[in-house]
Amino acid sequence: MENNLDQIHQNGLKELEAAENSNDIQDLAVRYLGRKGILTQFLRNISKLPVEQRPAAGQEANKIKTKLDKAFKQAAENFESAGMAKDDGIDVSLPGRSVSAGYLHPISQINNQMCDIFSSLGFDIAEGPEIESDYYNFEALNFPKDHPARDMQDTFFVSEDVVLRTHTSPLQIRTMEKQPPPVRIVCPGKVYRCDSDLTHTAMFHQVEGLLVDENISFGDLKGVLTTFVHQMFDDRTSLRFRPSFFPFTEPSAEVDILCVMCRGKGCRVCSHSGWIEILGSGMVHPALYENVGYDADRYTGFAFGMGVERIAMLKYGIDDIRKFFDNDMRFLEQF
Ligand code: PHE
Repeated sequence: MENNLDQIHQNGLKELEAAENSNDIQDLAVRYLGRKGILTQFLRNISKLPVEQRPAAGQEANKIKTKLDKAFKQAAENFESAGMAKDDGIDVSLPGRSVSAGYLHPISQINNQMCDIFSSLGFDIAEGPEIESDYYNFEALNFPKDHPARDMQDTFFVSEDVVLRTHTSPLQIRTMEKQPPPVRIVCPGKVYRCDSDLTHTAMFHQVEGLLVDENISFGDLKGVLTTFVHQMFDDRTSLRFRPSFFPFTEPSAEVDILCVMCRGKGCRVCSHSGWIEILGSGMVHPALYENVGYDADRYTGFAFGMGVERIAMLKYGIDDIRKFFDNDMRFLEQF
């Protein structure tokens, strides 16, 4: 019986020597020490031995079981550390991980394109705070308190006199306060409105424009916006100025472009009208000049504001604004 046990021990060690990797060792451990393993089997059969031999046999078998277990574990560890660089614990046998190159989010790309076009027309870039006072977001822009026009914007209030800016128009006031005319700026930035559906998210981006100087007319506004649209889309994209209302411009106009999908024939994107609204604009209201201390008899100017997501959706033919903010790489990688 002892010979028998010794044999098992020797065989186990011999087989271990032939093992080529940690899988082999695992198999060995199962075959010798597993529930139906050779040694386990042996231990079960001890009950068939004469009573006086049982204790010694049991002790010996358990000793060998421990020895084999130790040998298997040690060998497995050796295999593992052989695959690792000695000092830093890195498994050098694994294939490398490729680092993908970063690139700009589609909204940043379109935002930059928009700003580049206006820069090339001589506009400077101005930026301002997203948490804004009621004064700059409304009051100085000629929205009196309790004026119904405040309802046009679904405002997030931080406190009674502090809001998340609902548009980039506060930059008109902030810029004019800081410098005398001429002013020629575009202001890219995030804005916030309590609104959410296929074409609205609570945070979105606008680009505001403001030009104030002597002898600026509505014709200049048309010229600048037409150049912008032709460069952003193409020069077959005609514009349509529709009378509108904003408290801070007079006269005001909303600008439609010929539907970029159907070229005016009428489709789902343009609600079968052939036209798509892209921005609000108008001649700066004289009340604003008064608020910033400009001479309203000497200076005139125009302003406009448009949504970056909207331009991006039209440019790329995307029908759900939320796709921009889901951070699904399969979507983002396409731009
Ligand atoms: N601020 C307006 C809006 O967000 C857009 C606008 C800007 C209109 C400048 C006229 C002049 O709807």
